[in-house]
Amino acid sequence: MSSMHVHVTGIGSYLPERTLTNADLEKIVDTTDSWIHERTGIRERHIIAEDQMTSDMAVEAARIALDDAGIGIDDIDALIVSTTTPDMVFPATATIVQAKLGGKDFPAWDTQAVCSGFVYGLAHADGMMRAGMFKRVLLIGAEAMSRIVNWKDRGTCVLFGDGAGAVVLEAREEEGGVLGSVLHADGSYRDLLKAHHPHPGASPDAVDFSIDAAGVAAVEMKGNEVFRVAVTKLGEVVGEILAHCHIDEDQIDWLVPHQANIRIIQATAKKLGMDMKRVSTTVRDHGNTSSASIPLALDALYREGKLQSGQHILLEAFAGGFAWGANILRWSK
Ligand code: ACO
Repeated sequence: MSSMHVHVTGIGSYLPERTLTNADLEKIVDTTDSWIHERTGIRERHIIAEDQMTSDMAVEAARIALDDAGIGIDDIDALIVSTTTPDMVFPATATIVQAKLGGKDFPAWDTQAVCSGFVYGLAHADGMMRAGMFKRVLLIGAEAMSRIVNWKDRGTCVLFGDGAGAVVLEAREEEGGVLGSVLHADGSYRDLLKAHHPHPGASPDAVDFSIDAAGVAAVEMKGNEVFRVAVTKLGEVVGEILAHCHIDEDQIDWLVPHQANIRIIQATAKKLGMDMKRVSTTVRDHGNTSSASIPLALDALYREGKLQSGQHILLEAFAGGFAWGANILRWSK
């Protein structure tokens, strides 16, 4: 490993124009604003336009991040898109984003760890950059979750939203930036939270009837079981990342969690002994935007002028798989 450190030098995010409130959902499924808000903290979410794709949201967020870093797409050495909702099975959404941004030649690929995709992507980028492979990486979390939820299932459709967030990462000699990452997965839990492949098999016998009438793969979740494991594993992983980075709980200035459920976020903040004023929460207005939620929540803090150079930020996520993890950043912008 070189002595390089990976810094965030640009950040941006994008939310589609259309919002869907809990009141709107009351007209679609048997639910209420109070049930959704009490159980999840969500009031509304943004929904991608019919003529938009995940790559379009990614491009919008990326343009803002590149501008914020004061560089152009030609200055980028690699592009990673974390997404659960790629435009197509292949090519990778990252290559579509690269083309839409007018980039050429540099490697571009997707990473898929569902809601933990950004935490995983940041760990990939950090490792590769510190190994000297790339100087500048554009990392984007972009998700059109509304395209894969079953709008007849009140247990899941009320939870998700669409959006994108992007960071420009730069390897520099000065200390700070990404201090470390911890990643985990346990596939024995895979049936608790999943969405089948849109084309489940080559043989007619293999057709999976969890696919809805429109032929779309829909999210299936045993919510209360996921909740229980999420709270336990996130409690463990925040302890682990602090030890890994040799940082004490009271040195963490900001918690930027994946935004699945306000009660899960509160449990993790409590474990860290953090006041909720030190936690970025966007779940009320965004819902669960899967791997876009962390860069969206980080960008919200940045745009509100709350991040100061030298502050420690803990990112954490829990996802289908299950896959979970955390990173610590020392803000240096
Ligand atoms: N409106 C009204 N009632 C509802 C709704 C709704 N939208 N959804 C479910 N209910 C009902 C259920 O049918 C059930 O009724 P019953 O008691 O008559 O059977 C009752 O409410 C309780 O259902 P639970 O599922 O037990 O409710 P719970 O308190 O667990 O809350 C929730 C559900 C919000 C989904 C919660 O379990 C949760 O947040 N789970 C974790 C989600 C998560 O973190 N996922 C990981 C990241 S996502 C990813 O990786 C893609």
